[in-house]
Amino acid sequence: MTWTRIAAATQLQDDEVMSIALGGAQLALYRSAGEFHVTDNVCTHQYALLSDGYVEDGCIECPLHQARFDLRTGVALCAPATQPIRVYPVRVEGDDVLVDA
Ligand code: FES
Repeated sequence: MTWTRIAAATQLQDDEVMSIALGGAQLALYRSAGEFHVTDNVCTHQYALLSDGYVEDGCIECPLHQARFDLRTGVALCAPATQPIRVYPVRVEGDDVLVDA
């Protein structure tokens, strides 16, 4: 595993999302109910950035066609998306948010 610091924990409030560029990968970092989650930032339906979407109840809603994905598992919860988004291990050390991506 290679853990990389991607943000300070204080950069996000609950139900916020931000884009993260990491070695050519486009990731999204979320905070929901005090927990951090990281997924690929591009929707699996068409091209839209999930970091432009809405975080609610542990899910991200795509800004383009409103598909919703579970932040813990990446599972697509409703149409039009059918494929999951990739999720990555996250941990917090002090004020640092780290991802294994
Ligand atoms: S691009 Fe995300 S639901 Fe269509």
